[in-house]
Amino acid sequence: MQMTTLHDLMVHELKDLYSAERQLVQALPKMAQSASNSELQVAIATHLEQTKEHVARLEQAFEMLGESGKGMKCKGMEGLIEEGKSLLEEDIDPDVLDAGIIAAAQRVEHYEIAAYGTVREYARTLGHDEIAALLTATLDEEKSADQLLSGLAEGGINALAERDGQQGATQEGVKGPAASPRTSGAAQRSKTGAKRR
Ligand SMILES: [Fe+2]
Ligand SMILES: [Fe+2]
Repeated sequence: MQMTTLHDLMVHELKDLYSAERQLVQALPKMAQSASNSELQVAIATHLEQTKEHVARLEQAFEMLGESGKGMKCKGMEGLIEEGKSLLEEDIDPDVLDAGIIAAAQRVEHYEIAAYGTVREYARTLGHDEIAALLTATLDEEKSADQLLSGLAEGGINALAERDGQQGATQEGVKGPAASPRTSGAAQRSKTGAKRR
């Protein structure tokens, strides 16, 4: 794709987002299924429905521009989804997995927030006000999803994951975490705890 103008770059970025959103429509159901916390399941399922709408809004934008949305694969989103999936392959406590699913989902939201913020500004600069309005609607939903996830993490899911870690430590007693088959989970928990302090 030849890019000589801001318009070309905007179309490029929109195609990247179109690929990212379509990958998410495929990936989010599995993420929701893997969560144990019912509020987290609902939050992800709700965002899946919003994500389908994000795909539709991008299709509207391409129609307005007389462009096709196809032809690109968002490698950034592919990587984020892969990282999220790799958590599911770990020997991981369900409450700790919930905290990890939130971490993966928030990375995804932040990626989208950055991309939509940038491309909406291109649309505004180029006078595509209708497209900018479509992008704003999606951007607002990405931000709400991110805040909802923060609320779930801070409102109990991180504490549940931490509580499991403490129970493990008590049961293991003087043997310490090295003797536990859940060592890798414990290591992740202590790192998460350190970050939040
Ligand atoms: Fe989205
Ligand atoms: Fe999103």
